[in-house]
Amino acid sequence: MAHDELPIPIFSSFEPVYGEGSQLDEAQIRFDRLKSKFVEVFGHQPDLFARSPGRVNLIGEHIDYEGYSVLPMAIRQDTIVAIRKHDAGESPKHLRIANVNEKYTMCTYEADPSQEIDLKNHKWGHYFICGYKGFYEFLKSKGFDIGEPVGLDVMIDGTVPTGSGLSSSAAFVCSSTIAIMAVFEKNFPKKEIAQVACDCEQHIGTQSGGMDQAISVMAKSGFAELIDFNPIRATDVKLPPGGSFVIAHSLAESQKAVTAATNYNNRVVECRLSAIVLGIKLGMKPKDAISKVKTLSDVEGLCVSFANSRDSSDPVLAVKEFLNEEPYKAEDIEKITEESLTSILGNSPTSLAVLRAAKHFKLFQRASHVYSEAKRVHAFKDTVQSKLSDEDMLKKLGDLMNDSHYSCSVLYECSCPELEELVKICRDKGALGARLTGAGWGGCAVALVKESIVPQFILNLKESFYHSRIDKGVIDNNDLGLYVFASKPSSGAAIFKF
Ligand code: GLA
Repeated sequence: MAHDELPIPIFSSFEPVYGEGSQLDEAQIRFDRLKSKFVEVFGHQPDLFARSPGRVNLIGEHIDYEGYSVLPMAIRQDTIVAIRKHDAGESPKHLRIANVNEKYTMCTYEADPSQEIDLKNHKWGHYFICGYKGFYEFLKSKGFDIGEPVGLDVMIDGTVPTGSGLSSSAAFVCSSTIAIMAVFEKNFPKKEIAQVACDCEQHIGTQSGGMDQAISVMAKSGFAELIDFNPIRATDVKLPPGGSFVIAHSLAESQKAVTAATNYNNRVVECRLSAIVLGIKLGMKPKDAISKVKTLSDVEGLCVSFANSRDSSDPVLAVKEFLNEEPYKAEDIEKITEESLTSILGNSPTSLAVLRAAKHFKLFQRASHVYSEAKRVHAFKDTVQSKLSDEDMLKKLGDLMNDSHYSCSVLYECSCPELEELVKICRDKGALGARLTGAGWGGCAVALVKESIVPQFILNLKESFYHSRIDKGVIDNNDLGLYVFASKPSSGAAIFKF
C-alpha cells in the first residue's frame, strides 16, 4: 500500500520519530515537561500525544492553490499536542487550550463544533479550533456520529518558529486535528487527514493551498515529497547526496493570517481573475468562465492549445498574448467579465475583503509566475532523477531555485527587502541556489549548499547577516541556532501513547 494511504502511525516510544542521540534526548525532555505542565494545569494526565512537523518548501511557491504540484520536505521542528478527553458527565464542557510557553495564555472555548471563529479577534488558540471544527465536519461527511461534544484539555509545545514561513500554523492545525481524532479513537489514511487539515485551516481566513498540511502529515524521513493535489498524493523524492539545505530566517515576521487581505488572499484572487480573463479571451462565454474556472490549472489546456498553434506548449505564451502587463483596475476586468467583481467573488467574505483592499490587479505577472513555477517543480524532480553527475545535478537544482526566487520576487512580489538581502548573501557566500520559502513577505530563505561547506557557510551568514542584528538587539546571540540551521528531511505526523 502507498504510504500516503496508511493511517497515522501510533508509537509507544520516541525513536521512530526522533531517532537517537541529542534529538532523542531533547524530545524526552520536551515530552516530560509537557506532561508535567499538563498535570500542573489540568490536574490529570494526558490521554495521549500527537505531533506534526513544520516544513521547508524546496520549490513550487504559491502554486498549490492553483492546483499545481509542489516539492517540500518536513523539518525536525514540530508541534506536540497533549490531550485529554473529559468523561461524558464532566462539566463545564469547555475546550481549554494551554501552552508550555507562557507567552501564550490559556484560551477557553465552548465544546461546540459549530462555533464560528472570531476572525476579527485573532487568538493563538483559534488554530486548535480549526482542527476541532474540521474533525467534526469530516466525521459528519463520513456519516459517523460520536454523540454529544465533551470537554477537552489540551497543552501545546511548538518548536516551529512562528511567522517564519516554515508552517508553524499547519504543524499546529495538523497535530491538533490528529490529537482530537486519536482521543476519539479514530484514525484515517494520511492523505484524507491531510485534506481535512487543509480544509479546516481555511477557517482561520487564509485561502491557503494544501502543501503545508500535506507534507506535515505525509512526510517520510529521508525524502522530500512531490505533492499533487485533487486528490492529494505524495511521491517520495530522494535528494542527491553531497547537497544540504540551509534554512535562514530573514527576521522579518510574516503573519499570513493577519495580512491576508493584502498579501496571501490577494494573490489567490488575482490568480482566479487572471484565469477567468484567460478563459474568456480563449473563447469561453463570460458566464461559463465565471462559474467553471477557479484556478489557472483549469485554463491551462486552453492556453496550451493556443501555444500549440504557435509551435509551442508553453502556457505563458497565452499569458503574453492575452493579458496586459499594465495592472488592471476593477472596471477593466469587469468590461471583460460582464459582471462585477463583487458578484463574481460574492460567496467568499475573505475575497471581498481583498477587493476592498486592492487598488489594482496584476494578472499578467501572477499568471506568468504560476505557469513557469509549475514547470520548475517538474524540472527539479526530473533533475533529481536524471543521470547527471552529482556536481551538475546540484548546480542545476540551484539554478532552478534561483529562477524560482526571481519569479517570486519580481512577478509575484511576495519577497521583502530583508529576504532579498539574505538571498543575495547566501549566493555570495557560495550557495548553489537560494530562494524565499513559504508564503514570503518575510520569514525564511532556503539555500542549497554543498555539504562540505555547510559549517563555514553558516558562519559566513552569521557574520554578514546576523551579527549586525544581534548588535542592534533584534535577536540574542544565544538564539542564533534557532534562526539559521541545516536541515535534513524528517518524518511526518505521529501519535504517541505510552
Ligand atoms: C503558505 C500556504 C501554502 C502555500 C505557500 C506558498 O505556506 O499555506 O498553501 O500556498 O504559502 O507556496
